Amino acid sequence: MPLDSHPALANLVDDGEVFRIHNRLYHDPAIFQAELRHIFSTTWVYVGHVSEVPEVGDYKSATIATQPVIVSHHEDGEIYVLFNRCRHRGTVVCRDDSGHSNYFRCPYHNWVYANDGALVGVSMADGYQDLDKGGLGLQRIPRTGVHRGFIFASLADRGPSLEQHLAPLQKYIDRWLARSPDGEVRVLPTAHRFEYPGNWKWQAENGTDSYHGNYVHESWQRVLQRAGESRVKDVRAFRSAGCARGFDHGHALLERPAGLNPNASWTGRMMQTYPEYRQAMESRHDAESLEAVSAKLIIFVFPNMFMFDTHIRVIDPVRVDNTQIRFHVYALNGVPEEMNTHRYRAHERFFGPAGFGTPDDMEIFNASETGMRATAVDWSLLNRGQHREARDGAERVGDINDETTTRSLYREWKRLMATGDGADR
Ligand code: FES
Ligand SMILES: [Fe+2]
Repeated sequence: MPLDSHPALANLVDDGEVFRIHNRLYHDPAIFQAELRHIFSTTWVYVGHVSEVPEVGDYKSATIATQPVIVSHHEDGEIYVLFNRCRHRGTVVCRDDSGHSNYFRCPYHNWVYANDGALVGVSMADGYQDLDKGGLGLQRIPRTGVHRGFIFASLADRGPSLEQHLAPLQKYIDRWLARSPDGEVRVLPTAHRFEYPGNWKWQAENGTDSYHGNYVHESWQRVLQRAGESRVKDVRAFRSAGCARGFDHGHALLERPAGLNPNASWTGRMMQTYPEYRQAMESRHDAESLEAVSAKLIIFVFPNMFMFDTHIRVIDPVRVDNTQIRFHVYALNGVPEEMNTHRYRAHERFFGPAGFGTPDDMEIFNASETGMRATAVDWSLLNRGQHREARDGAERVGDINDETTTRSLYREWKRLMATGDGADR
């Protein structure tokens, strides 16, 4: 029985009394290949936002399970997700991150494709006899779907629908979008892109790991204190409020309610600083709903996307020990432009290339990869708060600093590895 299709792999996640995962998950190339096959090729993968391709002819590049794809807005109004692979000899026909064009021209021998993938031109065509152009378009990804502006694609032609996949998160995504009075975001051009020499799951885990914040980002908290913006102890008190939620399908989130207290709540602060924003929000929400919307949310959409306060984060696994990350900063629609600018500057301070947060996390991913080379210990512990995790319907709820979120990720990892195709939900 092949190693990558058997519960043998699933057993590397031990969801018993002490939840733990085996070191091989981070450095075994065979496991990485199995993940591409059983996770990234079966489930729904985030490939972009409609605001990145608003006009007919707009396109952007993405990857699914390391395979290059193009997200393309065609004149029929549809957004197609196409394999970025010339039907002649395989060259990518689109080498740009994003752009605008009515066609894709292969750089090798100049075959030309329309932006729905149809082959519309073949150079020196007299060299071919009976070339079936109709059957030689760029291949479409089997399934694509858009949920509230977020574009997803699946390499599997069967399995749960996008709605089923996102169902556990739907109300939280609605809440996250409701910080915009219009309920919409628009992604700004040009992502902040970087890579780290480590496994993709470090990032998938870390985005909703609240536990590390006070230690890995301690210098940030001290800078805030020195600048007279907030005291370390207040930041820590705020960071210990709220809860961690884990869901079926591997999704997870952190939720930090802070009412509308401007010292602790981002939305509260923005409402205090920008009266126009306050007005717009108060006209759309009653007090209870406003409080719910103002809670800080960090949402992980399994397997490759996060929704943060200021950006959408996308994980592209490249190799077992190499991962590419994209931060797509977005504007909130329907708010004063100065408020968005305020948000971008706040983003840069913590998440930007010279910011205080992201370099800290990258340093830790490196340190974790290094530590994993010590072979005396095979398993890592993920049991923080396991004993006090509550069930709320299909949701698991833990203390904000518990590993509830990471356990959800690995429960789905285990399930997909065991079943092999993600179809039996
Ligand atoms: S590989 Fe694309 S035209 Fe030859
Ligand atoms: Fe962090």
